[in-house]
Amino acid sequence: MSANNQIVVTGGAGYIGSHTVVELVNAGYEPIIIDDFRNSKEWIIDRLNDITNQSLKVYTVDCTSQTDIDKVFADNKGIVGVIHFAAYKAVGESVAEPVMYYENNITSMCVVLNAMKKFNVEQLVFSSSCTVYGEPDNPIVDEHTPIQKAESPYGATKIACEQLAQFAVQSGQALKICLLRYFNPIGAHPSGKIGELPQGIPNNLVPYITQTVKGIREKLTVFGDDYNTADGTCIRDYIHVVDLADAHVKALNWLAKQSSSVCEPFNLGTGKGSSVLEIIHTFENVNQVKVNYQIGDRRPGDVEQIWANAAKANNVLNWHCKYTMADALKHSWNWEQNIEA
Ligand code: UD1
Repeated sequence: MSANNQIVVTGGAGYIGSHTVVELVNAGYEPIIIDDFRNSKEWIIDRLNDITNQSLKVYTVDCTSQTDIDKVFADNKGIVGVIHFAAYKAVGESVAEPVMYYENNITSMCVVLNAMKKFNVEQLVFSSSCTVYGEPDNPIVDEHTPIQKAESPYGATKIACEQLAQFAVQSGQALKICLLRYFNPIGAHPSGKIGELPQGIPNNLVPYITQTVKGIREKLTVFGDDYNTADGTCIRDYIHVVDLADAHVKALNWLAKQSSSVCEPFNLGTGKGSSVLEIIHTFENVNQVKVNYQIGDRRPGDVEQIWANAAKANNVLNWHCKYTMADALKHSWNWEQNIEA
């Protein structure tokens, strides 16, 4: 016996996935986690059970296996939606391993859509990225900003999955889809029990900062200070991961109210841009620490400045950020100090 409140969360042990699992439970949904832990850790599930005070349902399977994913849908009779996070996400790695990125990220999207068709599940929330906008003419982007030709195989897989979602809806399959275009997720759960777990040397700014302050890395390199911005460093829209997670719940609530097939993109950002140096200095101030950094060369492929116009998500999904960038940087440092080896 199960109520019709089950949500399949592929990549549910990952960074954004794990925080979304918590928000789903808070909102009265029953998450069903699918993760093969290739880019996460099994102990994250213990932490999730602890935070939610539940014994969460977990399937350790690869999302590119149609047989295994179908079995999850066959086992659970109350599935009403899917949040599809499971994907490779490192831009640099995707340039070195394009086939691996296409094979994994696109196959898993196909598998999810096939399973949804077979088992008559209509609601899908897909993890997309602001990377689809490339280097925009105007740094503030809304959902009408044109999609650019992808700069990396990673970006190409996001664009391809968005297009596939649109085509699947046009094909007549009963589907209601939100394409959530994330800006830069940072921060961690306020409990300090879950957060970002980069494997090896972090690519992203905030985990690099926290590891540097912890002494795991010697020095942060700021990738370029000769951009056409106020302090010369790149500008991004950094959003607290718990706010991002909450947007997934709001997206599901909105999809449930739609009476016919739909496929809508939404920008998920704060609407405010911050420079790399602002992030470093805010991190130092809120945590009362020093970040050892140097200015280095530009990183190839970096966009100079981009931030979200998130009015559509604010108005249509009734979603609003609760946390500041300073809160997020405090929570990131709290988490870094709580990670077990
Ligand atoms: C990239 C991708 C984005 C993806 C995200 C998560 C693009 C344009 N963006 O975001 O789609 O979802 O990764 O993996 O491909 N920086 C430093 N030093 C560092 C690390 C970063 O100065 O050691 C700077 C970067 O130059 C950038 C900012 O910090 O200006 C943020 O970088 P990062 O955290 O890597 O995210 P993006 O590149 O914005």
